[in-house]
Order: sequence, then C-alpha cells, then structure tokens
Amino acid sequence: MTRILVYGSLNIDMVFAVDHIVLPGETVSSSSFTRNAGGKGANQAAALGKAGMNVFLAGKIGADGKFILPLLGSYGVDTGNVAVYEGATGNALIQVDRNGQNSIVLYPGGNGDISVSEVERVISAFGAGDFLVAQNEIAHTGEIINAAKKRGLKVHFNPSPYDEKVEALPLDNVDCFFVNELEGAALAGLPKDAPPAAALDKLVKRFPKAEIILTAGKNGAYYGQAETREYAAIVDAPVVDTTGAGDTFTGYFLAALVKGMTVRAALETASKASSITVSRRGAMESVPFAVEVFGSRLFHVEGGN
Ligand code: RIB
Repeated sequence: MTRILVYGSLNIDMVFAVDHIVLPGETVSSSSFTRNAGGKGANQAAALGKAGMNVFLAGKIGADGKFILPLLGSYGVDTGNVAVYEGATGNALIQVDRNGQNSIVLYPGGNGDISVSEVERVISAFGAGDFLVAQNEIAHTGEIINAAKKRGLKVHFNPSPYDEKVEALPLDNVDCFFVNELEGAALAGLPKDAPPAAALDKLVKRFPKAEIILTAGKNGAYYGQAETREYAAIVDAPVVDTTGAGDTFTGYFLAALVKGMTVRAALETASKASSITVSRRGAMESVPFAVEVFGSRLFHVEGGN
C-alpha cells in the first residue's frame, strides 16, 4: 500500500470555549477548558490513520507531549520518526466561540527545532511511489519539499497557517495543493473575498502541473488541474467546533484517492468526513474513523488497497 509520510507539527491544544472570540483589551471567562492533542501534521496523520492508510508521522515534541504518541498509535499512525527533545512541545491557544468558529495562537516549541540533517535522514527512507504531506507549521518546510521531490515522492502541501514565508518556498516542486478560500486567494494574488472558482482558475494557471484542492467552507470544495474541474457541495451538519476540519478533509481526500475513488467521490467523501469533525469538539479526537465515512464502500472500491 502507498506509504504516506506526514512531516508536520504536533501541538498541545489548550482549548477555551467562549461566547465570542476575545476582543483587544477585553477579558472573558470560558465555559470549559480542555488540553487536547493537536497540530496540523498530527491531525492530518490521524485522519489518514483513521481512514486506514499506511501513514508515518515525522516531527518533534518535548517530554510534555509524549501523551500524543500512543493516541496516534491507536489510530494506526507510525510515530517512529517523531523525535523527543529536551525543550517544550508546540502549543496552540485556541478559543472556540458559540458558533464553533475558532482563533488560534501558536507557540512553535519542537516544531521550530527540526533540523535539516533530521529532514534528510527521515526522507532518505522514502522514495518513488510514496507520498509526502506537509503544512506550514514547522521549520525547514522548503527543505522537506525539495528532499521529497528529489527522492521521487508525490508532494502534497497545505500552506497553512498562511504567512509571508509561503511565497519563498519551492512551490514549483509541489504536485498537489490543499488550500482554504483565504489561502487560495492569497496564493492566487486575489483579494480575500475572491470567488473560489476564480481563485482556482488563477492557481491552476500559476501551477500548471499541479492539482489544486480548494475548500470553501459552506460553499463546498473545488478541484482543478489543467482543464479539469470538479466540485462537491458541503455536507450539512451542526457546527460545534471547526478545529481540525481542514486536516480531516486533507486526510480523507487522499485516502479516498488511494482507495481508487474518482476525484469527485474523493471530494464528497472528504466533505462528509469534515462534516462529522465539525459536529464534535476537539482536533484529532474528533476526526471520524473509516467506517463512519466510507461505510460499506470501504470494502468494495475497485483497485482499493
Ligand atoms: O488545524 C487545527 C490545528 O491547528 C490545531 O490542532 C492546532 O494545534 C493548530 O495547529
């Protein structure tokens, strides 16, 4: 089965449930506080693992984050390439408001301590036919993309959180982008409120060899590659907490393709998986398992593995 290397962040998510996201100068009380396992890399690896993929996570944590490893292991994620160093694990301070929307402040911790020699060692164990999945939440993302491309991996990149450093990355070495509407508009050089289909067209022109998956919240999910376009509508669900919804989408879209589904079916599958995630609290713990998403199709897809 395709080996999928997720090289990315692991965080301790400190989650405060609030009425509204706190304003500058304001102090608010939260109705609950939880300390959860998170990080975009770890969440995407968890989604791939829960979807039944052969997934490997590489990253770095401190001793305070060791509790994340057995959880990932229980989802089928190989964490042998997660280093433990003497410093602190990455932290995410997350407010979730009464509508399930969040705001996040990151402290990099181990995510910022990854070295080029570690990147080279990890990626040397992977090669042609394997996938890389990367985000913009750890040090040396550019080196990770280049090393993976050089060894023949298919490079998937989710430029999240989007910042000015993204444009300096070797984006021409990316085979497949996962962006939300804000990231898509920024990468396309369009205003924040640009229509998703317009941003998609610009991205396809900017990266003519790459596949683009653009998620647009309530407006559904789009796929573009050269002249090909696909679309899936949102799957409606009560929104409790949107944390991890994009990570779920990435993991389940890839899993569906690996299982032999069409792009359209993969968009629909990933939308369904994300709708389950937003209806639950937390990050990787709220990601659904394969049986909740694929149902019986899990066992009947042509060419599935
Ligand atoms: O995508 C959600 C994740 O973003 C959270 O789990 C948090 O850790 C931040 O990395």
